[in-house]
Amino acid sequence: MLSPRLDSLGVRPLEIEDADELQALVERNREHLARWMPWAAGQDREGTERFLAEAEEQIIRDDGFQAAVEPDGEIVGVVGFHAIDWVNRNTSLGYWLAADAQGRGTMTTTVNALLDHVFYEWELHRLEIQCARENARSRAIPERLGFREEALLREAELVGGRYLDSVVYGLLETEWGQDRNQLG
Ligand SMILES: CC(C)(COP(=O)(O)OP(=O)(O)OC[C@H]1O[C@@H](n2cnc3c(N)ncnc32)[C@H](O)[C@@H]1OP(=O)(O)O)[C@@H](O)C(=O)NCCC(=O)NCCS
Repeated sequence: MLSPRLDSLGVRPLEIEDADELQALVERNREHLARWMPWAAGQDREGTERFLAEAEEQIIRDDGFQAAVEPDGEIVGVVGFHAIDWVNRNTSLGYWLAADAQGRGTMTTTVNALLDHVFYEWELHRLEIQCARENARSRAIPERLGFREEALLREAELVGGRYLDSVVYGLLETEWGQDRNQLG
């Protein structure tokens, strides 16, 4: 269990035993996910197992985690930290939801709860989220949560044969106060 709040949202670390369910979800949502995430187009069962094995290693290294989002007992998405830079006390976050799980505030609420984890549990100083410039739904999440738009990385991601610009959003511990904490 990550925290009572994350537990109540159905957010828990992914395990190797999730391979069947996760792979089936990726296959049902391949087109939806591959529009923005380069790994999704070719993700096979072996790739999912490798991702889950690496996720277990990541926890052992104290380097963040990859979590299932399962508000009603079934996985509908994934949210995860890329790594933790303990020297500079910062990290970055990525996320996705199944197409039919969008539109309910699930990811905004999840990221909101993870911000408490980042700033109060790990006591990090900075969290970054990168979104493709054209990915309005993804950009709306850091924008709703009070992140600052800090940079535009030109043609930083190769997705579906196209180089996409990437927007960098940042949030500092000093900006994550009680008012923000009431969202979601
Ligand atoms: C990015 C992604 C997770 C966003 O999903 P989402 O459903 O828009 O995000 P949320 O779960 O936070 O829901 C927000 C929506 O629910 C609505 N909503 C309902 N209750 C809400 C609440 N309590 N809080 C916030 N939003 C709420 C919002 O109005 C918004 O809907 P709208 O876009 O029609 O205005 C999803 O589109 C996705 O996985 N896309 C493919 C993969 C991807 O792009 N990943 C990101 C790579 S950087």
